[in-house]
Amino acid sequence: MKTAVLGHGTVGSGVCEILLDRKKDVSIAAGKEIELGPVLDIRDFDNIPYSDRFTKDFSAVLADPEVGIVAEAMGGIEPAFSYLKAALESGKSVVTSNKELVAEKGAELLSIARAHNANFLFEASVGGGIPLMRPLYSAMSAAGITEMAGILNGTTNYILTKMFSFGADYSDALADAQKLGYAERDPSADVLGWDACRKIAILSSLVWKKTLRPDEIPTEGITKITVKDVSAAEKCGFSIKLLARAKRLENGKIFAKVSPALVKTGSPLSTVSDVYNAVLVRAETTGEVLFYGRGAGKMPTASAVVSDIIECAKAKDNIENVYWENGAQSVFAGKDSVPEKYFIRTEGDVDHVLFGLEKLCENVFMTKPLTESEFSVLKEKINEHGSLLSKIPLFE
Ligand code: HSE
Repeated sequence: MKTAVLGHGTVGSGVCEILLDRKKDVSIAAGKEIELGPVLDIRDFDNIPYSDRFTKDFSAVLADPEVGIVAEAMGGIEPAFSYLKAALESGKSVVTSNKELVAEKGAELLSIARAHNANFLFEASVGGGIPLMRPLYSAMSAAGITEMAGILNGTTNYILTKMFSFGADYSDALADAQKLGYAERDPSADVLGWDACRKIAILSSLVWKKTLRPDEIPTEGITKITVKDVSAAEKCGFSIKLLARAKRLENGKIFAKVSPALVKTGSPLSTVSDVYNAVLVRAETTGEVLFYGRGAGKMPTASAVVSDIIECAKAKDNIENVYWENGAQSVFAGKDSVPEKYFIRTEGDVDHVLFGLEKLCENVFMTKPLTESEFSVLKEKINEHGSLLSKIPLFE
């Protein structure tokens, strides 16, 4: 069976290399011979060993009866969506690393895949090289998952680690992450939290089977975090991580949020550094389960794409558990549905007893659990006496 690869960038070229260099292992795992088929890219690649496989014409890929699987690593919504829709409609299975596409169009592509008894898999879209989706939709499918909290963006975790452990300059750390192939083409998707937002939307939809739209999730990146926040947090026994969280509430709705968050020093998420990602899953039967590994980079991500190629080649039918509904009604519970404790830094004469705050250090306090709206009221009161410098939710 041939696999076509769409897009020969960082991830796509890694997929080609694995399919060629590890052809034997891949074929044994799939139970049939898996071959690299046509590679689609608008650019020319003349000086590589498989340059004869390149094409600029997607209709040729679609018309090739030997291509049973299409692996997409182009990124963006179009033309990726149209290509993958057409591939699924022609009965080819599709795998992708494109989180933007899965977060926006996942429900639609999954339903097209079902209608044509094909598979649409996207292990590489979240957590890079960590085997994450398959354990969630398969091994943990009956575990009763109630909550997930993840460090889901390698670039920002790399930047935070370099800035705060080694005193690196923000822009140097970002340039490094770009050089190493971790960052998005437009790194604002990383540093503003959108990439982590898309990823938690995918995990939530996959686990709870209803579309959670990225545009509903309150999202804040790392751009406002200062060295003063980090050293105040450290002094009080915490680290700051960009966390993407989702929680199923008793009414069936989902609370989700992406923001810098405080985690206790020494807790599993606090020790995740550099480009590593981790997802802490809480479930009724298993308790806490932690997934950890490289969240970005060419070969880890390509390895996850290839694992989906193997899964598609093995599957006799559509994999039923990889599915979520495109419900007309939103599943997002609303920003005020879960009160949280906040770590705050202030300036001026703030009477913490009057405001019900626990004092941690000089000008650093912890609030009692508050909703976003309740916090806004507190903020106004604090600003009448001094000023609120930063506010970071506590992950417990
Ligand atoms: N830009 C992403 C990250 C790539 O840094 O995690 C992997 O999805």
